[in-house]
Order: sequence, then structure tokens, then C-alpha cells
Amino acid sequence: MMSQGSSLHHRMLIAALIVFVQDLSCGGGAQAWTYNYSITPNRSWKEASQWCQQHSAEMVTIQTQEETDFINNLLPLNSNYYWLGIHKEAGVWTCDGTKEKVKEHLQNWASREPDDYAGHDCVEIYIKRKKDTAKWNNEKCDKMKGTVCYSASCKQDSCSAHAACVETVGSHTCQCHPGFVGQRCEEAVACKALTESQQGSRNCFHPYGSNRFNSSCRFHCGLGFHLLGSPQLLCQSSGEWNHPVPLCQVKQCPVLNLTLVSGGSMNCSHPFAPDSYNSTCELRCDEGYDRHGDSQIRCDHSGQWTPGVPACTVKKCPPIFPPAAGNVTCVDAVEPFSFGSRCNVTCQEGYHLTGDSSLACLASGQWSKPTPACTVVQCDGLEAPPHASVQCQGPLGIHSYGSICAVQCEEGFDLIGTNNTECLSSGNWSHKLPVCRAKSCRGISSPPHGSLLCTDPNGPLSFGSRCTSTCDEGFILNGTASTECTSLGTWSADVPRCLAGRCPPLNSPPHGSLSCSDPHGEFSFGSLCTSACEEGFFLNGTAHTECTSRGTWSAAVSDCLAKRCPSLGHPPNGSFSCSDPHGDFSFGSRCTLTCEEGFVLNGTADTQCTSLGTWSKETPRCSAKRCPALNPPAHGSLLCSDPHGGFRFGSRCSSACEEGFVLSGTADTECTSAGVWSREMPHCLATPCLRLAKAPQHGTMNCSHRFSPFSYNSRCDFACKEGFWLRGTPNVTCNSLGHWSQELPSCRPVQCKGIPALSFPLSINCSHPLEDFSFGSQCVFICAAGFSLNGTKAVLCSSDGVWSDTLPKCVGDETGVTDQRVGSAVWVYAVITVCVLIGLVALGLLISTQFKKKGAPIMDDVKSWDETENPAFEF
Ligand SMILES: *[C@@H]1O[C@H](CO)[C@@H](O)[C@H](O)[C@H]1NC(C)=O
Ligand SMILES: *[C@@H]1O[C@H](CO)[C@@H](O)[C@H](O)[C@H]1NC(C)=O
Ligand SMILES: *[C@@H]1O[C@H](CO)[C@@H](O)[C@H](O)[C@H]1NC(C)=O
Ligand SMILES: *[C@@H]1O[C@H](CO)[C@@H](O)[C@H](O)[C@H]1NC(C)=O
Ligand SMILES: *[C@@H]1O[C@H](CO)[C@@H](O)[C@H](O)[C@H]1NC(C)=O
Ligand SMILES: *[C@@H]1O[C@H](CO)[C@@H](O)[C@H](O)[C@H]1NC(C)=O
Ligand SMILES: *[C@@H]1O[C@H](CO)[C@@H](O)[C@H](O)[C@H]1NC(C)=O
Ligand SMILES: *[C@@H]1O[C@H](CO)[C@@H](O)[C@H](O)[C@H]1NC(C)=O
Ligand SMILES: *[C@@H]1O[C@H](CO)[C@@H](O)[C@H](O)[C@H]1NC(C)=O
Ligand SMILES: *[C@@H]1O[C@H](CO)[C@@H](O)[C@H](O)[C@H]1NC(C)=O
Repeated sequence: MMSQGSSLHHRMLIAALIVFVQDLSCGGGAQAWTYNYSITPNRSWKEASQWCQQHSAEMVTIQTQEETDFINNLLPLNSNYYWLGIHKEAGVWTCDGTKEKVKEHLQNWASREPDDYAGHDCVEIYIKRKKDTAKWNNEKCDKMKGTVCYSASCKQDSCSAHAACVETVGSHTCQCHPGFVGQRCEEAVACKALTESQQGSRNCFHPYGSNRFNSSCRFHCGLGFHLLGSPQLLCQSSGEWNHPVPLCQVKQCPVLNLTLVSGGSMNCSHPFAPDSYNSTCELRCDEGYDRHGDSQIRCDHSGQWTPGVPACTVKKCPPIFPPAAGNVTCVDAVEPFSFGSRCNVTCQEGYHLTGDSSLACLASGQWSKPTPACTVVQCDGLEAPPHASVQCQGPLGIHSYGSICAVQCEEGFDLIGTNNTECLSSGNWSHKLPVCRAKSCRGISSPPHGSLLCTDPNGPLSFGSRCTSTCDEGFILNGTASTECTSLGTWSADVPRCLAGRCPPLNSPPHGSLSCSDPHGEFSFGSLCTSACEEGFFLNGTAHTECTSRGTWSAAVSDCLAKRCPSLGHPPNGSFSCSDPHGDFSFGSRCTLTCEEGFVLNGTADTQCTSLGTWSKETPRCSAKRCPALNPPAHGSLLCSDPHGGFRFGSRCSSACEEGFVLSGTADTECTSAGVWSREMPHCLATPCLRLAKAPQHGTMNCSHRFSPFSYNSRCDFACKEGFWLRGTPNVTCNSLGHWSQELPSCRPVQCKGIPALSFPLSINCSHPLEDFSFGSQCVFICAAGFSLNGTKAVLCSSDGVWSDTLPKCVGDETGVTDQRVGSAVWVYAVITVCVLIGLVALGLLISTQFKKKGAPIMDDVKSWDETENPAFEF
């Protein structure tokens, strides 16, 4: 349906009406209008409707002001006015022909209309009424009113499809639709050809030929670009495109303000335009910052940064919560509790920081240090002073800041000092703890004869002190041993007394008396009693007894016993007869001694035991009768057995001689009961040796005699005359056995050198008065005829044993030559002769010697003595 221009409004009545059809509320067509009306007769609404239909028309329904004015001018005044083709159907005002609802704003009611009266369902128009001219009113449908109808006159094919058929009076014209020209409006108007656009494409539709009226082109842009201008161009009836050709503009992403990127840097490349499609950016975050999103983003075809704009967010450290009782103050470089933030933790009074107070949020997102804690200041644990109890109470703990401790002393103790103390923020207690001092009791001292031992757990003689009295040994406690210092400061009991212990009373012993010293009372501990006996009596036991600590006497009281004299018993060789009033041989005893034969009383026969316990007289004895004292013989000894004392009755003595002496007489003798010896004493004589009558021949003898001549210990010295020598010992002694100590010596002549046999012509003639070639021998030399002696004629053997001269020689008278050879032969001959002679003599001597030895062994060397000259030894 084409709209109609309003320019034709005034050219003719009917044409003018066409304009209104456009706004007809009840529809209608683009037709020429012809109005019919009838007021004679007036009709009901229904009859009016039927009348219009009979005339191929419909009731007027138009509601515009212009149509209203037109009709108001056209129609004559009818006092009943005219019906409109509008009635109420189902409560809605409805057009009669089209059955469409009358639009509200087109309803043109008179004032205070429509009303609500029942049956007033049909609408009349006040044509040419003074008031509410051409306004509407609802009225009963059977009211009689004027009828006004309208009808159209154009035919279907009067014009081309691109024209409107315009009613004219009796005819019509083709009114071309815009964009069409020609008689029947069949040709479309042409528009300019369209230019190509970059990054875009188009889609055209040409209903009436290329780029002609109503050709339409739709433009499209490539991915990432969007159309700027109208996407659809329409070739208008004026021959102009209704819009300029659109442009493809690159899609813009949100502008990235790089100066606003914090904590990092963005590097971008823009192939088309800044921050546009296909722009890419790469984000690098600084240390301490985290990237959120991908590092690289691209502006996509939809104008969005994909996959989203990243950002560098500062690393967050976990929030620091102020520790209990602490505060945290932070200086933040970026954000609270983020990289660069520095926080200080402080504690409230009474708390101290454990840990480091300053923390820094590091690039790692961690705090440089753990959050320190505020720990409540702790005062030292209070140890209750001795004998006190401490009660602490504090909001933060018993020994913590603010805690108050109250000290209370135990019963019996006085508090010295302040009774409470408070834990200060410095960690110290406000006051020193007081001291609980035990209550003092008055001083006490140990009882006489006792001692006091106190245990003082709480100080000397103070509450709790317990003193125990103990009595010295021998003393008994009277009272309470222990006393205690009570909590009131008084003693529970008095110090007791120590009384000496008692011993049983004592009596004096018979024949005695008792005296006591009693330092602590009669017969009490410490009493010392001493017993004493009458004269002649003695105490059998200790004199003293003492009352001991056990209450007993240290010893029983001793008896007084009569003093005893030494027992006389049975005296040897006699007997006592006694009278004993107080016991044998005791004080008062009298005894008399009688002796046996051979014995005599020595002392007084009667004796008495005195009070001193001694006998009044020396104890008498029976002594054996005495014989005269004997002396041992000279050079002898005496051995006696003395049954009753030396040289007394019964003594037997035996004499013996020393070595070298022999007894002369009877050895034994006996003391008889008459007091005389039975025999005389013998003598000791020296043992005799052989009496030496004479000195040896040619010698002298000198004898000395110690005891008697030629007996034991006699000694004889021997010497020889000149020319003789002593053969044997020079002296002899007589031994104890009566033998001479040695063989007796002899005197032998001194020997000269033997003269050998002489050789021819010398010969010898010797005389030997004693022995050959010995003292006294003389030799005379003779030379044979024809020879004469050269030297001494004779030699003599001297007492010294040397020859008086040297041997002479025989010298030849004529020649004077000595025949040595003959001489030698003579010598050899002489020597042999001498040797043979000597051998014969020696043999004879040996035989005689052997024979003599058997008869006189003592005279061993008799051969040295001349039988005739050597005297026999005599006694
Ligand atoms: C980026 O941000 C800064 C600070 O807000 C501002 O001064 C500047 O004009 C902005 N630049 C752009 C291109 O928007
Ligand atoms: C945009 O970038 C993509 C790859 O990232 C490429 O395939 C495409 O051709 C680009 N568009 C234009 C119009 O250059
Ligand atoms: C800590 O904080 C508390 C309350 O927040 C305040 O009363 C007190 O004064 C602060 N102490 C310090 C040392 O800042
Ligand atoms: C932390 O304490 C230090 C030294 O006490 C001081 O210099 C610093 O300014 C403090 N910082 C803060 C954030 O309070
Ligand atoms: C501490 O002493 C004060 C007086 O000095 C007294 O009033 C208070 O009761 C005492 N407290 C205790 C627990 O004894
Ligand atoms: C202690 O002494 C009193 C008098 O001083 C006395 O009566 C009492 O018997 C004595 N007790 C003993 C056990 O000695
Ligand atoms: C004398 O005392 C001792 C012990 O002390 C006793 O054996 C003896 O019999 C006492 N003698 C007499 C005669 O009582
Ligand atoms: C008597 O005895 C005394 C001493 O015992 C003694 O010396 C004296 O020689 C004796 N008298 C007689 C005659 O034996
Ligand atoms: C007695 O003779 C001996 C040698 O037999 C000698 O030693 C001694 O001296 C002589 N005694 C005296 C007194 O000449
Ligand atoms: C005798 O002998 C001695 C020496 O032996 C000699 O001197 C002397 O002349 C001798 N006389 C004679 C007469 O031959």
C-alpha cells in the first residue's frame, strides 16, 4: 500500500479526501470518495447501515479533523444529527464495515462523552451544532438520525501497478508512484552506478533493472572491519541513492593506554591502525608483578582483545594481621600488602615483640620475615617465699603483665614487706616479695642438769621451733620433755626439771663404817659412799660405790674381812699350832712352832697376826744344824748338795781337782745331825813328770817349777857348750797328764867339712876324739918321698866347724912338678875307703836304733846320746 502525498488536498473535494484515507481508523482503500446522505427519513443506526449497503456504500467512519470539517461543511444541519458507522461491540468501539477497533487517539468525543448509559452503544456526530461542533456522542441505537454514506469509483487496471488511481469527478487519473514515470507509471527511475569499496563486498537486488528505482544493495565488510554508513542502499524515486556508499572501517579494540600499564611494559604492533584488528601486544611484567592473562594479545575481528587484556598486578603478600595485642603500620609502595610494602609491627604496652618488627613484602610474594608475635610480658615466676602462699591473678596470665600477686603468710608467720606486687610492662614486679617471719617465742634455756635441743625450722625460738629437754645422765625428767613454739608465739609447755635419780639406801658393813657425799640428795645419782673397816679388818672389794645414772650402785658395799697374815702353812721340818679367832692366819691368830731332829728353831717360837696383817715376830723357822763352812781345796773345787742350806745338816760335799792336779784323800764328806763333817777335806797335788837328774852331755839344763819339782807346769831349758849344737827342742814343759811336752834334746859336736881321700903323693893321718871330722878332729899331712909340703902340716876342726887352715900340696923337690894324675888317684881311693867305712858304721847304728826304740819310746833319738855319757832321767 502506498502512502499519498498531501499536495493534492485542495484541488478538488474528492481528491482532498484521499489524503485522509491514509489515517482512517477503520481502514479503507485508495479510492475516490463519493458521499451520499439522507435525512428524510431519519433512521435508526441499523436502518442507516442497511440503507448505505443498499447504495453500495458504507456508513462514514472517518474521524480526522479534516474529514470532520469536510463533512461538517457538506452536510446540512439535522436536528437529530447523523449516525457514524461506529458502535459498541463487546464493550469496544468498533468500525462497522471493517470491524476494526477505533483507535483511542482518533476518538473525538464531545465533552463528558461517552457516557455510561445503558443502550447508548451507537455513535452520532453533532454536525453543525453550536457546541461541540462535529464531536461525537454515544446514543441509543434505535434513535432516529440522519444517514451519511460514502463509496469509491477507480477500477482495478486503470493504472500500472506503480500508480494510484485517483478519483476525479466521474473519472480518474494515474497518479505515479514515486520512482516511476510514464502514462501508466510503468518505467522505474535510474540511479548512479555504485563505486567499489575496499575490504568490502556488496549484494544487490534490482527489481526494476540495474541501479534503478528500488534497486537495493547490501554491503558487507571483511573480517575485522565494520561497515561505516548504511549497509543497505536503496535507489530512491528521486534517482538518488538514499545513502552514500558505506566504508569498511577496521574494527577498533579498546584503546590500550600504554602509559597506564603499571608494573610492566607493553610492546605493540599495529598493522592497520592503533589498537585495531590484528594489532598485537606483548606484555612483560616487572619483578614483583604477576601477569594476569596471556602475554600476547591480539585485537580480534569482533573488536575485542583476545584472549583479554593482560595486566601486571603487583604480587600480593598475604595480609598481615596484627598479632594479638599488636599493631601493624605499613607503608605501601603500590597496594596494601603488596610487593614493596613495608610494615612495622608494634606491640601494646605490656607486650613485647618476638621476632623482627620490620617486614618487607618481597618480589616472591612472601614477607621477608614471619610476622612477629606480641607476647605478653612475662615477669619471672614468683616463687612463694618460705611459709607464704602467693595468689596471682591477671587478665593475661598469672605471671604476665598486669598480673597482681597477693602474698599471704602461713599461720604463725608475720608478713614483712608489701603484701602484693604487680607485673609491670617492664617485666619486673612492682614490689619485692615480702618475707614471712616466724613469730618469736621468748627465749628459754636448758634446765639445770639437762640440755635443751631445739629444732628451729623457721629461725631460732620461733614458730615451729620444737625444743626437747634431755636430762644429763642420772637425772630424770620431771615435766614435759618437748615444748613447741605455737603460732601465737608462746611455748606449749614449760621447760621441765631434771631430778637426780635415786639409788637404794645403803647400810654400813659389819666391822666397818660408811660415809657418803651426796651432791644431789641422799643416796641419789652422784652420791659417793666410801666404806671403811675397823682396825685389823680390810675391805674385800672396792671401798667406793657410787650411785649411777641407772639408779644402781656401782658396786655392792664390800665386807670388812679380818686381815690375813701370810699363811704359815706347814713349815719344813717343823709344825705350827695356832689359835684363830677370825679365821686361819688372820688378825688375832697366835701360832707356836716346834722343830724336828737335826733342826733348831731360828727366831721366836710364838708369833701373832697383827692388825696390819703381818706377824708380830718374824716367822720362826726350823733351820738345819750348821756344820763349819768348807773351802774348796787349793787347785780344786767343792760341789755340795744342800737340802737344808749351805753346810747344814744333810749337806753332802764332794771335792775335785783342777786339770794337772790329782786328789790326795777322800773326795766326799757329809754334815751330820750333830753339826760336824763326817770326813776331813782332801788336797790337790800337781801331776809329777819324769824327774830330770842331769843336764845332757856337753850341755846345761835350767829348770823352773811352778807348783812342785818336775811336776805339772815345770819347765826346763837346755843349752850346749861351745863346739856343740842342740839337737831337739831347747825347752820342755810338764803337761797336765804328767808328760814332758817334747823329747829331751842332746848336744852334738860341730861338724867340719869332711876331707876326701888324698891322692899321691899327699897322704893324711887323722885323729877324731868325738866324731869323724868334727870339733876336736886333727889331721896331719905327709908327702911321699921326693915331695915336700907346700902349706900347713896339720889342720884342726874348730868349734865353729871350720878347719884351721887350707889343705897343703906336695911339691916335687927336684922338678917341682906336682903329679896331678897320681894325686887324683890317691884322692879317689881315699874317698872310696871313707865311704865304705861310713856305710858300715851307719848300718850298725841303724840296727841298734831299731832295737832300742821298743823299750824306750820317749827317748826317741837315743842314738844321739852316748850310752855311757847320756844320763837316764830320774824322778
Ligand atoms: C593515558 O593516561 C594518562 C593518565 O591518565 C593520560 O594523561 C593520557 O592522556 C592517556 N593517554 C591516552 C592516549 O589516552
Ligand atoms: C589477521 O591476522 C591473521 C593471523 O593472525 C591473518 O590470518 C589474517 O589474514 C589477518 N588479517 C588481515 C586482514 O590481514
Ligand atoms: C594500636 O591500636 C589500638 C586500637 O586499634 C590503639 O588503641 C592503640 O593506641 C594502638 N597502639 C599503637 C602503639 O599504635
Ligand atoms: C618502621 O620503623 C622504622 C624504625 O623504627 C622506621 O624508620 C620506619 O619509618 C617505620 N616504618 C613504618 C612503616 O612505620
Ligand atoms: C594487704 O594490705 C592492705 C593494707 O596494707 C590490706 O588492706 C589488705 O587487705 C591486705 N591484703 C591481703 C591479701 O592481705
Ligand atoms: C615431779 O615433781 C613434782 C613436784 O615438783 C612431784 O609432785 C612429782 O611426783 C614429780 N614427778 C616425778 C615423776 O618425779
Ligand atoms: C671376797 O671377795 C671375793 C670377790 O670379790 C669373793 O670371791 C670372796 O669370796 C670374798 N671373800 C669373802 C671371805 O667373802
Ligand atoms: C736364823 O735365820 C737367819 C735368817 O734366816 C740366819 O741369818 C741365821 O743364821 C739363822 N740362825 C741359825 C742359828 O741358824
Ligand atoms: C822353748 O823351745 C821352743 C822351740 O822348741 C822355742 O820356740 C821357745 O822360745 C823356747 N822357750 C823359751 C822360754 O826359751
Ligand atoms: C908353694 O905354693 C905357693 C902357692 O901355692 C907358691 O907360691 C910357693 O912358691 C910354693 N913354694 C915352693 C917352695 O914351691
